[in-house]
Amino acid sequence: MNKNNEKIELDALKSKIVELGRIPVHVAIIMDGNGRWAKKMGLPIKEGHAAGVRTVKKTVKIAREMKIKVLTLYTFSRQNWKRSAQEVAALMSILSSSAIREVEELYREGVGVRISGDLAGLPALQRKAMGMIVKRTADRKELILNLALNYGGRDEIIRATKTIAEEVAAGRLAPAEIDGETIEKNLYTAGLPDPDLLIRTSGEMRVSNFLLWQSAYSEFYVTETLWPDFDHAEFCKALLEFAGRDRRFGGRKAV
Ligand code: IPE
Ligand code: IPE
Ligand code: MG
Repeated sequence: MNKNNEKIELDALKSKIVELGRIPVHVAIIMDGNGRWAKKMGLPIKEGHAAGVRTVKKTVKIAREMKIKVLTLYTFSRQNWKRSAQEVAALMSILSSSAIREVEELYREGVGVRISGDLAGLPALQRKAMGMIVKRTADRKELILNLALNYGGRDEIIRATKTIAEEVAAGRLAPAEIDGETIEKNLYTAGLPDPDLLIRTSGEMRVSNFLLWQSAYSEFYVTETLWPDFDHAEFCKALLEFAGRDRRFGGRKAV
């Protein structure tokens, strides 16, 4: 298909989604497949991650265009430290250089960056770069770009549990008062709505320790497409599928 036809088709897809009027407020993505993409292209792994960043840029653009309010991207998991020192170093370097390169454009576009994860566990350079981008874009609210970074769903719940236990031990909270809200306000994602749509690229059918609490009623969408190949049309296909889903939250509609 030539470029012009592709654009016509994409515009039609976008209009259809808007017409259906069921755009998710919060989209969360497990950006998987950079390694496989690099292998497929005969390139070193770090080139796969660099290509992944280019897809992040495109995804932020389409998310803004489609008026999505929160975009959470699984950027680096607590478990990803298990990879080779070389790969981890490449990922860290891409992270800080992208933050420094993109900060002003994100600011201009109204994108507020937020981090969900253990920032203190990052190397000093990355900690500083992420602190800088969060601070610079703090008052930007058109789209919240929430980066799950040095993030693990179980670790997040353990951390919340510890804070709550300390509150109880200090006599500021009674165990009987603990409810969903108590947990939520102690998660990294405090104040953000739960993801409506959770996308995973590269075909793997698992959650890999991502948003375990928050995804309780998220709609799952898995595509075989590798993250570096995930373009606007792919993103819109996921939105279209979401628009047609029947969300029940455990209830039953009148028959
Ligand atoms: C996802 O791509 C990026 C990160 C985990 C940081 P992968 O690097 O996991 O890609 P595959 O799974 O090896 O293809
Ligand atoms: C999940 O992908 C983590 C990120 C996308 C950052 P992984 O590639 O680490 O997940 P597994 O190892 O296939 O479960
Ligand atoms: Mg992977």
